[in-house]
Amino acid sequence: MPSVLPIGRVVATESKPSTPHQFYFRTEADVAVGIGSLVRVDGEGRTVYAVITDALAYDNGTGEPARLFLAAVLRQLPESPLQAVPIAPVHLASEEDVGPALRMDAFTGGARPTGIPVGVYAAGGRESPVFLDCDFLLGPEAAHLNISGVSGLATKTSAIAFLLGSIFQTFPRHKGTVAAVCLNVKGPDLCFLDQPGEISADDRRIYARLGLAAEPFADVRYFAPLKPDGVNLNTLRTHEALAGRTEPLIWGLREVLDFAEVVLNRDDIDAKADGFIDFLAERVVGREYRDDLLRPSPFRVETFTDLEEFFRAIFDYLERGRGGEVWRSHHVATIRKIRNRLGNISTRCKGLVTDDGAANDLPWGRFADRAVYAVDVAGLDPLAQDLVFARIVSQLRERLERRDLGVDHVIVFVDELNKYAPTDGPDTYVRRMLIDLSERGRYLGLVLFSAQQFRSQVLRRVTGNAGTALFGRMDGEELATPGYATLSAATRVKLATLPKGELMLRHPHFTHPIFVRFPRPAMLSGRDGVERFPPAPELAFADAVARQLRALDRRVVLDAVRELVDGRRDGDVRRALAATRRERPADALAFFRAALGRRVEPEVAGARRGVAAVRTADDPYVP
Ligand SMILES: Nc1ncnc2c1ncn2[C@@H]1O[C@H](COP(=O)(O)OP(=O)(O)OP(=O)(O)O)[C@@H](O)[C@H]1O
Ligand SMILES: [Mg+2]
Repeated sequence: MPSVLPIGRVVATESKPSTPHQFYFRTEADVAVGIGSLVRVDGEGRTVYAVITDALAYDNGTGEPARLFLAAVLRQLPESPLQAVPIAPVHLASEEDVGPALRMDAFTGGARPTGIPVGVYAAGGRESPVFLDCDFLLGPEAAHLNISGVSGLATKTSAIAFLLGSIFQTFPRHKGTVAAVCLNVKGPDLCFLDQPGEISADDRRIYARLGLAAEPFADVRYFAPLKPDGVNLNTLRTHEALAGRTEPLIWGLREVLDFAEVVLNRDDIDAKADGFIDFLAERVVGREYRDDLLRPSPFRVETFTDLEEFFRAIFDYLERGRGGEVWRSHHVATIRKIRNRLGNISTRCKGLVTDDGAANDLPWGRFADRAVYAVDVAGLDPLAQDLVFARIVSQLRERLERRDLGVDHVIVFVDELNKYAPTDGPDTYVRRMLIDLSERGRYLGLVLFSAQQFRSQVLRRVTGNAGTALFGRMDGEELATPGYATLSAATRVKLATLPKGELMLRHPHFTHPIFVRFPRPAMLSGRDGVERFPPAPELAFADAVARQLRALDRRVVLDAVRELVDGRRDGDVRRALAATRRERPADALAFFRAALGRRVEPEVAGARRGVAAVRTADDPYVP
C-alpha cells in the first residue's frame, strides 16, 4: 500500500482516454513534479510506473487553474494482460519504485548482478541510483554508448570519463576483465586522467549515493607521438612531473605497411596496388630479398630509407631498359604510385613514423584489467590520426578475436565523432572501420563510446547501433531534426535547457528516456590540468633526449647526456634512445652510452711528411 499521500488522480475522457502506453492525471497547483518525474499509479489490482512527458494548465472557470500532466508508461505490473492505465490515485515514485519502474530489478539483484551506476534520478528531495546493465553496455546483448550535446554545457567528455571510472569500479568480476583505449583528439581534454581533480561536496554525496569512490584512474599509460625532431613529445602532457607515465608512440615501416590502404584514397586501391603492397609486406619487408636483376647483394628492408633504396634499384633497372614497363608483373605506374604514397606517409606522419630504431607501441597482448591506454593524437596531421585509429582498432579487433589481448573487453573512446564518421563525407577507411566496430564489435567485446555535438551529423549506422544514448544540453536547431521527433515538445524544451551535469538517458531496459544527474569526474579536467601542470616548453635536442632517458631512470642527469650527445648525429642519438627504451635497462645512461658507441674522433690530418728530396750538387732539376 502507498505510504504517502497521492499527488493527484488519473483523469480520462473520451477524447483523452487512458491507454496502455500513456495517461493524463490531474494535480493540485503546488505539487512539485515536472517533465521527467517518475510516478506510480495503483488501482484495479495493478501498479503502473510512468514518466511525465508533458504538462498542461487551463482555466476551468472556477478561478483555480486546472493542472494536467501527460505520463508515458514505463512498466505495468503484472505485465499481462496489458490494459489501459486504471483511473486511480497517482503517487510520486519513491526510492523503492525506481528499480522496478526502470526494470533494474532484473539485473541489479540476484547472484550475478550486472548493474553499472550511471547517475542519480532526483525528485522531491530524494536521489535514487540509476544503473545500466553491463550486458547491454559492453555486450554481448547490446553494446556501445553515444553522447550528444552542445559544446561546454553538455558535459559530454566529463560524462564519459565519469562513466569509465564507474565501470572500472563496478564491472562485475564474473563478466571478466575490461580496459579502455582513449583517443585524445582535442587539446588537453584527456591528458590528466590519472590526476585527482577538485569536486564539490554535492558531487561527493552523489558518489557516495552510487557506492563509488571519487578517485582518478589508478592505472593509466599515456602514448603520444613525437614532434618532427624525433625527441620532443607531441602532446600537452609534457610537464616534468608526469614524464614517467608518458611514452612515445613510434611506428616503423612494418606497422605502417599493414595499414597502407588507410593512406591510399579510394581511387588508389585497385587490385594492382593491393597486389604490390601485399608483395612488399610478405616478400620484402623484414626479410632478406634477393633479385639478381636488381643487384647482386640481397636487400634487407627494415626502414623507409631501406625501402627507398629498394625502389631506386627497381627504377634503375627499368630505366636501363631491361624490363620495359614491368618489373615482376608489377607495372611501373603502380610501383611509382605506392612509392609516392608511402613516402608521403613518412613525411606527413613524421614523429609518429620513424626511420631510426625500434617502434614503441601499445602493450599488445599484455593489456591489464581496469587500465586506461590514452593515446594523444590531438597534435597529429589528419592522415596520421587516421593511421593511428586504423592500426589501433584493427589490432584490438584481431587480438580480441584470437583472445590474446590480455583482457576480455575493451572500450574505445572516440570524442568528436563527427570528424571521423560524418553523415556526408568521403568514404574513408576510418569511417568504414567505425561502422564495422558499431555493427560487429559487441560479439568480440570491442565497445565504442563516442561523443559529438550534433548526432544528426554522424552516420546513423554508428549512432543507431549504440545501445545506450546520452543527451546533454541540446541545440534548438538540432532538436528540430527528425531524429528527435519521438520526444514530446516538452521533453525537447527540457533538453534545450538542461543544466550541466544532467543528462537524458536511453537504455534498452528503460521503456522511455530518463533524466539523471551525474557527479563531476574525480580526475583533473584538461583545462585545470594545463594550469596545474603547464606543458614544458619545447626542449633543445639534447635536453629532450635527457628527459626521455630520465623517464626510464630517474638518476640520469642532464649534463651527462648533453656531453654524450654533443657532436653526434641526430639519427644515431635517436637510434640509441630507441634501443634504450626497448631494453629498459637498470642503468639507462650506461646502456645509452654503449648503444651510442664510441665516439669516432674526426681524423686530424697531420702535416704531410714527404720524403725529403735528395739534394745532390749535380742534380740538374734543383733550383
Ligand atoms: N557533473 C557535472 N556537474 C556540473 N558541471 C560539470 C559536470 N561535469 C562537467 N562539468 C563542467 O562542464 C564543463 C564542460 O564539460 P565538458 O568539457 O565535459 O563538455 P563537452 O560537452 O565535452 O564540451 P566540448 O563539446 O567543448 O568538448 C566543464 O567546465 C566541467 O567542469
Ligand atoms: Mg568534449
